[in-house]
Amino acid sequence: MKSIVVVISGRGSNMEALVRADLPARIAAVVSNRPEAAGLRFAAERGIPTQVVDHERYPSRDAFDAALAQALERHDPDLVALAGFMRVLGGDLVGRYEGRMLNIHPSLLPSFQGLHTHARALEQGVKVHGCTVHFVTPALDHGPIVIQAAVPVLPGDDEAALAARVLRQEHVIYPRAVRWFLEGRLVIEHGAVRLAGSDERQFVWSHE
Ligand code: GRF
Repeated sequence: MKSIVVVISGRGSNMEALVRADLPARIAAVVSNRPEAAGLRFAAERGIPTQVVDHERYPSRDAFDAALAQALERHDPDLVALAGFMRVLGGDLVGRYEGRMLNIHPSLLPSFQGLHTHARALEQGVKVHGCTVHFVTPALDHGPIVIQAAVPVLPGDDEAALAARVLRQEHVIYPRAVRWFLEGRLVIEHGAVRLAGSDERQFVWSHE
């Protein structure tokens, strides 16, 4: 059976969605860069091994990356799933997991890379917003896109309302993307991801 290590920084609701999705894989561990991450408790309650690699305890990004790499390697995972992980990883670590590391980002990439995506979407007055699961590459929020979900931006939305609407779809598309990965159906061609083996769609329109 394939194995996954999920890497979090906080609440961990995307990690929870992956755990609850009953994927054909073992969640070998949940690793957090923050000792106080709420998601650690959920994982521990489920009997999933947890580990903290506290970025504040390392003098440089390289040193943190090396420690994180060690934590990941212990489990020799088929897939590393970044789920609300809020640190930028260096090229060495990302390179080691090329094609085996996924991330969920709360915008329709390539729009709104980086932080505060919902506030920026509101500021720009976009009418459609959403979330993206992508392979991780050294350039932040740039890797090949696996699946996206679009949600409407409604009159009267504030950041919290929009974030909640997007998050519901994150919990739909991340397990779907990981399942496709585990089934070996994600084919990266010329920087884009093709889904092999069926005509399932790599997008979700949510009207709620
Ligand atoms: C999610 O919106 C994720 O896309 C973003 O941070 C949030 C983390 O939520 N990067 P959670 O920790 O998965 O609940």
